[in-house]
Amino acid sequence: KTEDSETGASMVNGGGAVYEDKEENDNSRSEDLSELLAAGTKEVHEQAENTQFVKDFLHGRIRKELFKLGAVALYYTYSAMEEEIEKNKDHPQFAPLYFPNELHRREALARDLEYFYGEDWQGQISCSPATQRYMERIHEIGREDPVLLVAHAYTRYMGDLSGGQVLKKVAQRALKLPPTGEGVFFYQFDSIHSNKAFKQLYRSRMNELELDISTKDRIVQEAVRAFQFNMEVFQELEEMGKTIQEDVLDGGPIHGHMQGDISK
Ligand code: HEM
Repeated sequence: KTEDSETGASMVNGGGAVYEDKEENDNSRSEDLSELLAAGTKEVHEQAENTQFVKDFLHGRIRKELFKLGAVALYYTYSAMEEEIEKNKDHPQFAPLYFPNELHRREALARDLEYFYGEDWQGQISCSPATQRYMERIHEIGREDPVLLVAHAYTRYMGDLSGGQVLKKVAQRALKLPPTGEGVFFYQFDSIHSNKAFKQLYRSRMNELELDISTKDRIVQEAVRAFQFNMEVFQELEEMGKTIQEDVLDGGPIHGHMQGDISK
Protein backbone atom coordinates (compact mmCIF):
# COMPACT_ATOMS: atom_id res chain seq x y z
CA LYS A 1 0.00 0.00 0.00
CA THR A 2 2.85 2.39 0.65
CA GLU A 3 5.28 1.40 -2.09
CA ASP A 4 3.95 4.13 -4.32
CA SER A 5 4.38 6.88 -1.75
CA GLU A 6 8.00 7.54 -2.66
CA THR A 7 7.78 7.31 -6.41
CA GLY A 8 4.18 8.18 -7.10
CA ALA A 9 4.32 5.20 -9.42
CA SER A 10 1.25 3.05 -9.10
CA MET A 11 -1.60 5.48 -9.10
CA VAL A 12 -4.32 3.30 -10.47
CA ASN A 13 -6.17 1.93 -7.47
CA GLY A 14 -8.89 4.47 -6.96
CA GLY A 15 -11.54 4.62 -4.29
CA GLY A 16 -12.62 1.12 -5.23
CA ALA A 17 -15.67 -0.49 -6.69
CA VAL A 18 -17.55 -0.32 -3.41
CA TYR A 19 -18.08 3.40 -3.72
CA GLU A 20 -18.91 3.24 -7.38
CA ASP A 21 -21.64 0.69 -6.84
CA LYS A 22 -23.05 2.75 -4.05
CA GLU A 23 -23.10 5.88 -6.18
CA GLU A 24 -24.79 4.15 -9.05
CA ASN A 25 -27.48 2.66 -6.89
CA ASP A 26 -28.61 5.65 -4.90
CA ASN A 27 -28.50 9.32 -5.50
CA SER A 28 -27.71 10.43 -1.97
CA ARG A 29 -24.85 12.84 -1.40
CA SER A 30 -21.44 11.26 -2.00
CA GLU A 31 -19.42 10.78 1.13
CA ASP A 32 -16.09 10.78 -0.69
CA LEU A 33 -13.95 13.39 1.03
CA SER A 34 -12.48 14.48 -2.31
CA GLU A 35 -15.94 15.29 -3.61
CA LEU A 36 -17.07 16.93 -0.39
CA LEU A 37 -13.98 19.15 -0.51
CA ALA A 38 -14.42 20.10 -4.16
CA ALA A 39 -18.09 20.91 -3.65
CA GLY A 40 -17.64 22.59 -0.27
CA THR A 41 -14.88 24.92 -1.48
CA LYS A 42 -16.36 25.73 -4.87
CA GLU A 43 -17.76 29.06 -3.78
CA VAL A 44 -14.69 30.18 -1.84
CA HIS A 45 -12.50 29.03 -4.76
CA GLU A 46 -14.41 31.38 -7.01
CA GLN A 47 -13.94 34.17 -4.48
CA ALA A 48 -10.20 33.45 -4.39
CA GLU A 49 -9.98 33.51 -8.19
CA ASN A 50 -11.65 36.90 -8.14
CA THR A 51 -9.39 38.68 -5.68
CA GLN A 52 -7.63 41.58 -7.35
CA PHE A 53 -4.17 40.29 -6.53
CA VAL A 54 -4.86 36.90 -8.13
CA LYS A 55 -6.49 38.44 -11.20
CA ASP A 56 -3.58 40.84 -11.65
CA PHE A 57 -1.06 38.04 -11.30
CA LEU A 58 -2.88 35.89 -13.87
CA HIS A 59 -2.71 38.76 -16.34
CA GLY A 60 1.01 39.25 -15.79
CA ARG A 61 0.39 42.42 -13.80
CA ILE A 62 2.85 41.59 -11.05
CA ARG A 63 5.92 43.47 -10.06
CA LYS A 64 9.03 41.82 -8.81
CA GLU A 65 9.02 43.33 -5.32
CA LEU A 66 5.47 42.13 -4.79
CA PHE A 67 6.16 38.70 -6.25
CA LYS A 68 9.07 38.40 -3.82
CA LEU A 69 6.80 39.23 -0.89
CA GLY A 70 4.38 36.58 -2.14
CA ALA A 71 7.20 34.04 -2.11
CA VAL A 72 8.07 35.11 1.43
CA ALA A 73 4.47 34.57 2.55
CA LEU A 74 4.47 31.14 0.93
CA TYR A 75 7.78 30.28 2.59
CA TYR A 76 6.37 30.94 6.07
CA THR A 77 3.12 29.17 5.25
CA TYR A 78 4.76 26.00 3.90
CA SER A 79 7.34 26.00 6.69
CA ALA A 80 4.51 25.88 9.23
CA MET A 81 2.49 23.34 7.27
CA GLU A 82 5.38 21.01 6.54
CA GLU A 83 6.67 21.25 10.11
CA GLU A 84 3.28 20.07 11.39
CA ILE A 85 3.02 17.44 8.64
CA GLU A 86 6.40 16.02 9.73
CA LYS A 87 5.24 15.89 13.33
CA ASN A 88 2.07 14.08 12.30
CA LYS A 89 3.34 11.90 9.48
CA ASP A 90 2.52 8.71 11.39
CA HIS A 91 -0.92 9.87 12.46
CA PRO A 92 -3.29 7.31 10.89
CA GLN A 93 -5.59 10.08 9.68
CA PHE A 94 -2.80 11.85 7.84
CA ALA A 95 -0.13 9.24 7.02
CA PRO A 96 -1.61 8.19 3.62
CA LEU A 97 -1.24 11.81 2.44
CA TYR A 98 2.41 12.07 3.45
CA PHE A 99 4.35 12.71 0.21
CA PRO A 100 7.34 14.81 1.27
CA ASN A 101 9.43 13.97 -1.77
CA GLU A 102 6.69 14.78 -4.26
CA LEU A 103 4.96 17.72 -2.61
CA HIS A 104 6.96 19.58 -0.04
CA ARG A 105 7.72 23.16 -1.09
CA ARG A 106 9.78 24.67 1.70
CA GLU A 107 13.11 23.79 0.12
CA ALA A 108 12.07 25.05 -3.32
CA LEU A 109 10.89 28.32 -1.77
CA ALA A 110 14.17 28.68 0.12
CA ARG A 111 16.03 28.43 -3.22
CA ASP A 112 13.73 31.01 -4.79
CA LEU A 113 14.28 33.38 -1.87
CA GLU A 114 18.05 32.93 -2.03
CA TYR A 115 17.89 33.85 -5.71
CA PHE A 116 15.83 36.97 -5.02
CA TYR A 117 17.40 38.19 -1.77
CA GLY A 118 20.90 36.69 -1.87
CA GLU A 119 22.79 34.56 0.61
CA ASP A 120 21.51 36.49 3.60
CA TRP A 121 17.85 35.98 2.59
CA GLN A 122 16.88 34.69 6.02
CA GLY A 123 18.04 37.91 7.63
CA GLN A 124 16.08 39.99 5.15
CA ILE A 125 12.60 38.51 5.27
CA SER A 126 9.88 38.81 7.88
CA CYS A 127 6.44 37.38 8.39
CA SER A 128 3.45 39.61 7.60
CA PRO A 129 0.46 39.82 9.97
CA ALA A 130 -1.93 37.86 7.72
CA THR A 131 0.70 35.19 7.13
CA GLN A 132 1.29 35.01 10.87
CA ARG A 133 -2.40 34.36 11.53
CA TYR A 134 -2.39 31.62 8.89
CA MET A 135 0.72 30.04 10.45
CA GLU A 136 -0.73 30.20 13.94
CA ARG A 137 -3.83 28.32 12.82
CA ILE A 138 -1.71 25.63 11.16
CA HIS A 139 0.38 25.17 14.31
CA GLU A 140 -2.75 25.10 16.45
CA ILE A 141 -4.36 22.29 14.49
CA GLY A 142 -1.05 20.41 14.21
CA ARG A 143 -0.97 20.41 18.01
CA GLU A 144 -4.61 19.95 18.85
CA ASP A 145 -6.52 18.52 15.90
CA PRO A 146 -4.09 17.08 13.35
CA VAL A 147 -6.76 15.46 11.18
CA LEU A 148 -7.53 19.01 9.99
CA LEU A 149 -4.08 19.19 8.41
CA VAL A 150 -5.76 17.31 5.56
CA ALA A 151 -7.69 20.50 4.78
CA HIS A 152 -4.60 22.68 4.66
CA ALA A 153 -2.58 20.23 2.60
CA TYR A 154 -5.49 19.83 0.16
CA THR A 155 -6.00 23.58 -0.26
CA ARG A 156 -2.39 24.34 -1.03
CA TYR A 157 -0.96 21.28 -2.78
CA MET A 158 -3.98 20.50 -4.95
CA GLY A 159 -4.17 24.15 -5.92
CA ASP A 160 -0.46 24.25 -6.73
CA LEU A 161 -0.77 21.13 -8.86
CA SER A 162 -3.75 22.63 -10.69
CA GLY A 163 -2.41 26.05 -11.56
CA GLY A 164 1.34 25.77 -11.16
CA GLN A 165 2.49 25.49 -14.75
CA VAL A 166 0.42 28.45 -15.92
CA LEU A 167 1.51 30.65 -13.03
CA LYS A 168 5.14 29.69 -13.53
CA LYS A 169 5.08 30.83 -17.13
CA VAL A 170 3.23 34.02 -16.28
CA ALA A 171 5.82 34.90 -13.64
CA GLN A 172 8.81 34.06 -15.81
CA ARG A 173 7.47 36.21 -18.59
CA ALA A 174 6.31 39.16 -16.53
CA LEU A 175 9.43 39.29 -14.37
CA LYS A 176 11.91 38.23 -17.03
CA LEU A 177 13.17 35.36 -14.94
CA PRO A 178 15.67 32.94 -16.44
CA PRO A 179 14.32 29.88 -18.26
CA THR A 180 16.38 27.68 -15.93
CA GLY A 181 13.77 28.10 -13.21
CA GLU A 182 15.39 30.40 -10.67
CA GLY A 183 12.70 32.30 -8.79
CA VAL A 184 9.95 29.86 -9.74
CA PHE A 185 11.25 26.59 -8.30
CA PHE A 186 8.14 26.70 -6.12
CA TYR A 187 5.94 25.99 -9.14
CA GLN A 188 8.01 23.07 -10.31
CA PHE A 189 7.30 19.61 -8.89
CA ASP A 190 10.33 17.65 -10.08
CA SER A 191 9.18 14.34 -8.62
CA ILE A 192 5.71 14.44 -10.16
CA HIS A 193 5.50 13.39 -13.78
CA SER A 194 1.79 13.87 -14.29
CA ASN A 195 -0.03 16.42 -12.17
CA LYS A 196 -3.33 14.94 -13.22
CA ALA A 197 -2.38 11.39 -12.22
CA PHE A 198 -0.93 12.59 -8.93
CA LYS A 199 -4.08 14.52 -8.09
CA GLN A 200 -6.06 11.34 -8.74
CA LEU A 201 -3.80 9.41 -6.40
CA TYR A 202 -4.13 12.13 -3.76
CA ARG A 203 -7.92 12.13 -4.07
CA SER A 204 -8.08 8.35 -3.71
CA ARG A 205 -5.84 8.56 -0.62
CA MET A 206 -8.13 11.18 0.89
CA ASN A 207 -11.11 8.95 0.18
CA GLU A 208 -9.47 5.98 1.88
CA LEU A 209 -8.93 7.83 5.16
CA GLU A 210 -11.05 6.35 7.89
CA LEU A 211 -13.23 9.29 8.86
CA ASP A 212 -16.78 9.65 10.09
CA ILE A 213 -19.03 12.09 8.32
CA SER A 214 -18.82 14.76 10.99
CA THR A 215 -15.02 14.73 10.74
CA LYS A 216 -15.29 15.03 6.97
CA ASP A 217 -17.52 18.04 7.46
CA ARG A 218 -15.02 19.59 9.84
CA ILE A 219 -12.27 19.07 7.26
CA VAL A 220 -14.37 20.80 4.61
CA GLN A 221 -15.02 23.70 6.98
CA GLU A 222 -11.30 23.96 7.70
CA ALA A 223 -10.53 23.97 3.96
CA VAL A 224 -12.88 26.94 3.57
CA ARG A 225 -10.91 28.64 6.33
CA ALA A 226 -7.66 27.78 4.58
CA PHE A 227 -8.92 29.49 1.43
CA GLN A 228 -9.89 32.49 3.53
CA PHE A 229 -6.42 32.69 5.09
CA ASN A 230 -4.99 32.67 1.58
CA MET A 231 -7.33 35.45 0.50
CA GLU A 232 -6.32 37.53 3.50
CA VAL A 233 -2.69 37.16 2.46
CA PHE A 234 -3.62 38.19 -1.12
CA GLN A 235 -5.46 41.24 0.19
CA GLU A 236 -2.50 42.19 2.30
CA LEU A 237 -0.15 41.81 -0.67
CA GLU A 238 -2.43 43.95 -2.77
CA GLU A 239 -2.27 46.68 -0.12
CA MET A 240 1.51 46.44 0.05
CA GLY A 241 1.62 46.65 -3.73
CA LYS A 242 0.13 50.12 -3.51
CA THR A 243 2.98 51.42 -1.37
CA ILE A 244 5.96 49.58 -2.81
CA GLN A 245 8.62 51.62 -4.52
CA GLU A 246 9.06 49.84 -7.77
CA ASP A 247 12.15 49.51 -9.85
CA VAL A 248 12.11 50.27 -13.53
CA LEU A 249 10.26 47.82 -15.71
CA ASP A 250 11.81 47.42 -19.13
CA GLY A 251 9.67 49.26 -21.61
CA GLY A 252 7.03 49.97 -19.03
CA PRO A 253 6.04 53.64 -19.12
CA ILE A 254 3.26 53.26 -16.57
CA HIS A 255 5.15 53.90 -13.35
CA GLY A 256 5.36 57.48 -12.30
CA HIS A 257 8.09 57.37 -9.70
CA MET A 258 11.29 55.70 -10.68
CA GLN A 259 12.86 55.58 -7.26
CA GLY A 260 16.07 54.01 -8.32
CA ASP A 261 17.18 50.45 -8.39
CA ILE A 262 16.03 47.82 -5.98
CA SER A 263 18.30 44.78 -6.14
CA LYS A 264 16.67 42.11 -8.31
C1 HEM B 1 -8.42 23.37 -8.74
C2 HEM B 1 -8.17 27.28 -11.48
C3 HEM B 1 -6.83 29.93 -7.67
C4 HEM B 1 -7.03 25.99 -4.89
C5 HEM B 1 -8.46 24.20 -9.80
C6 HEM B 1 -8.85 23.81 -11.14
C7 HEM B 1 -8.78 24.90 -11.91
C8 HEM B 1 -8.35 25.99 -11.07
C9 HEM B 1 -9.09 25.01 -13.40
C10 HEM B 1 -9.34 22.44 -11.57
C11 HEM B 1 -8.22 21.56 -12.01
C12 HEM B 1 -8.71 20.13 -12.19
O1 HEM B 1 -9.87 19.82 -11.90
O2 HEM B 1 -7.90 19.32 -12.58
C13 HEM B 1 -7.80 28.33 -10.67
C14 HEM B 1 -7.64 29.68 -11.16
C15 HEM B 1 -7.27 30.42 -10.08
C16 HEM B 1 -7.19 29.54 -8.94
C17 HEM B 1 -7.89 30.14 -12.58
C18 HEM B 1 -6.96 31.89 -10.00
C19 HEM B 1 -7.33 32.77 -10.89
C20 HEM B 1 -6.76 29.09 -6.58
C21 HEM B 1 -6.37 29.49 -5.26
C22 HEM B 1 -6.42 28.38 -4.47
C23 HEM B 1 -6.85 27.28 -5.31
C24 HEM B 1 -5.97 30.90 -4.86
C25 HEM B 1 -6.11 28.23 -3.00
C26 HEM B 1 -5.23 28.90 -2.34
C27 HEM B 1 -7.45 24.96 -5.69
C28 HEM B 1 -7.69 23.61 -5.21
C29 HEM B 1 -8.09 22.85 -6.31
C30 HEM B 1 -8.07 23.75 -7.45
C31 HEM B 1 -7.56 23.12 -3.78
C32 HEM B 1 -8.46 21.38 -6.34
C33 HEM B 1 -9.97 21.25 -6.44
C34 HEM B 1 -10.38 19.80 -6.39
O3 HEM B 1 -10.20 19.11 -7.38
O4 HEM B 1 -10.87 19.36 -5.36
N1 HEM B 1 -8.16 25.54 -9.79
N2 HEM B 1 -7.53 28.28 -9.34
N3 HEM B 1 -7.04 27.76 -6.58
N4 HEM B 1 -7.68 25.00 -7.04
FE1 HEM B 1 -7.62 26.63 -8.17
